[in-house]
Amino acid sequence: MKQSEFKKRRKQLINHIGVGNIGLISSASMRTRNRDVDYPFRQDSDFFYLTGFNEPDALAVFIPGREQGEYILFCREFDETKALWEGAHAGLEGATQHYDADDAFPINDLDEILPGFLENKTKVYYPMGRNLELDTNLLEWINHIRSQSRSGLVAPSELVSLELIVHEMRLFKSPNELKLMRTVAEISAAGHVKAMQACKPGLYEYQIEAELIYHFNQNGLRNVAYPSIVAGGKNACTLHYTENTDKLKNGDLLLIDAGAECDHYAADITRTFPVSGKFSEPQKLLYQLVLDAQFAALEQIKPGLFWNQAHDASVEVLTKGLVELGLLKGKINKLIKDEKYKQFYMHRIGHWLGMDVHDVGDYKIKQEWRVLKPGMVLTVEPGLYIPANCKTVDAQWRGIGIRIEDDVLVTATGHEVLTGGAPKSIQEIEALMQGL
Ligand code: GLY
Ligand code: MN
Ligand code: MN
Repeated sequence: MKQSEFKKRRKQLINHIGVGNIGLISSASMRTRNRDVDYPFRQDSDFFYLTGFNEPDALAVFIPGREQGEYILFCREFDETKALWEGAHAGLEGATQHYDADDAFPINDLDEILPGFLENKTKVYYPMGRNLELDTNLLEWINHIRSQSRSGLVAPSELVSLELIVHEMRLFKSPNELKLMRTVAEISAAGHVKAMQACKPGLYEYQIEAELIYHFNQNGLRNVAYPSIVAGGKNACTLHYTENTDKLKNGDLLLIDAGAECDHYAADITRTFPVSGKFSEPQKLLYQLVLDAQFAALEQIKPGLFWNQAHDASVEVLTKGLVELGLLKGKINKLIKDEKYKQFYMHRIGHWLGMDVHDVGDYKIKQEWRVLKPGMVLTVEPGLYIPANCKTVDAQWRGIGIRIEDDVLVTATGHEVLTGGAPKSIQEIEALMQGL
């Protein structure tokens, strides 16, 4: 992503904040995994969205109308030894030269410098309650200014959510963001193809997970957007199954929910396919039902329609199909009203997708479901999960878990499926797996 795009976002935020107010946002921190080992660093998405700065121990400050420049970055000073052991970091000079900060200060001097920026400002925009250290520091800095009120200083009197503004911005993807999302969707979809090709009875779930990770890494994507779910047989009925330790059995289905991350943008794809490469009859019937529900939901993804319409469409198709197959009994309207489908379809149709897999952005505005608009990206992921111990259904259905998930962009005229590279029709899957 070019610096000019980050700059444009900051300008937009600064306009929202307004002269007389101030905005703050801190970076993510390194976290210890065990003893001297850290987890790989992942920048806070909001912070990266506004700064493009990929280091821990940083704080961005936005002061609309400040004469010496409206964007200040506190970060780590350049340190020779650190550079030798841990590699490159921008330092103060890099912050101004390469990241367009108007001023840069050492993060270690935050306590001395930041109260000065807060003086005589009215509102502080910041991500409330997300970073305990920033929450605590901010109130201490404000108290410090209050204690000097007799010398004429005025402390900020309002704390406002910075996220309300930034998350609304993040909900609408720019052409450059869409380029990254198309790339990550394409590579992730190809990873699912590799997984289908590698799958056979007797392998372990983690060996299929390895196929996905191998493909992502080979294509330069070193991180997954979330822990991969590789769930054979009844493991698929555990929605967040990530152990991935069981042996794959002939006759079972395999559900894979996996996506890579590319320059902080996520893909989120689920495919379900037979371990043997051939669906059994009951598997075929349930699978086709989920696929029909997905197509019905996708028809509801276009500008001007409400967010919940896709979900409602999936509920209708699934409930009707479950009655036809005998898994639910009763009148369709009543079953929907009583939410009887929820014992087999307990999640919603999807979520916003972007820098975070469950991306930011409101789903309702003033109690009303949101209207879809071009530039939004979301997942469409209906599923059916029939518990292995479900006594109310015929034995042939028990222990089957199916989800089909694609990433979808709302366009000016309808939608575009970004993850179409992973096959999902019964015929396509069987042909691919049997090498036809
Ligand atoms: N992979 C998480 C989800 O599908 O929401
Ligand atoms: Mn999802
Ligand atoms: Mn998923």
